[in-house]
Amino acid sequence: MKICRTKDYKDLSRKAANIIRAQVIMKPDCILGLATGSSPVGTYEKLIEWYKKGDLDFSKVTSINLDEYKGLQPDNSQSYRYFMNTNFFDHINIEKSNTFVPDGLETDSEKACRDYDKIIENCNGVDLQLLGLGHNGHIGFNEPSDVFPSGTHCVDLTPSTINANKRFFDSEADVPRQAYTMGIRSIMLAKKIVVVVSGREKAEILKKVVCGPITPQVPASVLQLHGDVTIVADEAALSQL
Ligand code: F6R
Repeated sequence: MKICRTKDYKDLSRKAANIIRAQVIMKPDCILGLATGSSPVGTYEKLIEWYKKGDLDFSKVTSINLDEYKGLQPDNSQSYRYFMNTNFFDHINIEKSNTFVPDGLETDSEKACRDYDKIIENCNGVDLQLLGLGHNGHIGFNEPSDVFPSGTHCVDLTPSTINANKRFFDSEADVPRQAYTMGIRSIMLAKKIVVVVSGREKAEILKKVVCGPITPQVPASVLQLHGDVTIVADEAALSQL
């Protein structure tokens, strides 16, 4: 694992965006695995800025998002499809038809997951996977459990995740209880992985991810086994390392 230490969130966002920028320049038709949440927002802002300056072209890029709440309409302001459109896709020249997010409206979980795995398979491999890190060590919505889940699956969100995500909803009761998420195997198959981690409240879990045992109780610890992971983290997040 490579650790890229940054001064603060702004610096983190610029450095993470630079890695993605290099990927898009080197391979204009690359497959980007993307994440939602607060951590990558600054990264997307930087990429938009460089796109607007004419430094980046996303017209041939395909994107595959990690996860989506089950039951939310794509135009619901809390859905991850909405998040991606408003925070990134609407501001760059990516073809919307080349952007994929699990279908939160599919009530048949098995079908939703099977369909998404097919999409991932048809893309022939993610070139660069961007990840955030949950307070309990989750990546995507792969919550702590007894096994590392392989493909796309439907998860019951843990109280810790519901609590962390309630800030985006009117009340905790509004946070969906289930989500579809890419599995650990699909994440691990990405050629390159970039994890953005910011803030003191992530310091303890980041230490476990990097230095602790590899265990599905800390899902991100599996990243220790990947050959090309860069953790871009600010000083606060690295304060326990
Ligand atoms: C989002 C996702 C989650 C988040 C994680 C951290 O698509 O897959 O794993 O990356 O919950 O969220 P933030 O960045 O809001 O702390």
